[in-house]
Amino acid sequence: MKSFDVAVWRDGKLRMLDQRKLPHEEVYLEYDSAAATARGIRDMVVRGAPAIGCATAFGVAVEARRIAAQDIPASWPAAMAPGLKALHDSRPTAVNLRWALERMTPLLTSTAPERVPDRLLEEAQAILREDHASCQAMGHHGAAVLPQVDGRPLTIMTHCNAGALATGGVFGTALGVIRGAVVAGRRIRVISCETRPFLQGARLTAWELLQDGIDTTLITDNMAGHLMGKGLIDVVVVGADRVAANGDAANKIGTYTHAVLARRHNIPFMVAAPLSTIDLQAPDGSHIPIEERPAMEVTHLGGQRVAADGVAVLNPAFDVTPAELITWFACERGVVREPNRDKIAALLP
Ligand code: MRU
Repeated sequence: MKSFDVAVWRDGKLRMLDQRKLPHEEVYLEYDSAAATARGIRDMVVRGAPAIGCATAFGVAVEARRIAAQDIPASWPAAMAPGLKALHDSRPTAVNLRWALERMTPLLTSTAPERVPDRLLEEAQAILREDHASCQAMGHHGAAVLPQVDGRPLTIMTHCNAGALATGGVFGTALGVIRGAVVAGRRIRVISCETRPFLQGARLTAWELLQDGIDTTLITDNMAGHLMGKGLIDVVVVGADRVAANGDAANKIGTYTHAVLARRHNIPFMVAAPLSTIDLQAPDGSHIPIEERPAMEVTHLGGQRVAADGVAVLNPAFDVTPAELITWFACERGVVREPNRDKIAALLP
């Protein structure tokens, strides 16, 4: 299976594949400060909750290296504060960003001052390695519960890009489940929703899966109900940007609509995400902040205005699927059927 340099350390800098240019061009950008990394996250050079977590960790490491190149500061927390704030504020919904900062920042005070840059880089590399391992584990766990069908491929619908590109570059979460099924020898057909307005499904998921030779068909988001009604979707598998303590899951806008439709048609609905996506501080989905993105993403297509001048626009980037609509929650520790507060709590150490 193909892997990608989504966010990697190269020659003392953070290197990221510019996902805005895919699938037409493979361009890599380099980052040497937290502020620049934060802009890369905000502007969608890197996107997808676990990938944002990895980029954030490397953004912290590169900032410490930039500061140490001038002098070892009297106070690491004070010297790092502006860069940490820029990273923290770059995107609001994917909790993996906060999770990565919470893992990195204690090292500023628990490490000998001159060792801080190296220690932060070690931790960022560990986060990336753990992401690879957790995607592969959740992929195999999730694949094991997928329905059996006779004499034809299993058709899985997915939304947005929850693939290698949305994680540390290997397997992915929802696409990890699909890859896990392929590795297990299942015949799989994927229906990828294009994912208006940013088109992660059309541009990223279709590109990623085709490179692995996985049978992939693209639809526009509003075709999902029709296909479900015709019996052409066996199961829906999506990722998540933040899972609340009760199992409600925020994911790319449109996911909730698919979940309602899936329930109407008795189609199982799986959310696949690592434990770093669970936010116990959010008691339920109403506490998850939903990012509002620029109007231009809705009014324009490929840089060309398609909407009437002067029209008002809403552009919430995520929605929340209530736990009651989720059949399975798959993570690196296994699969939980019908997630609820107790089952989510039991997953965490
Ligand atoms: O706005 P994006 O592209 O960052 O949104 C990404 C998603 O919603 C993904 O489905 C989610 O992060 C899961 S990624 C493994």
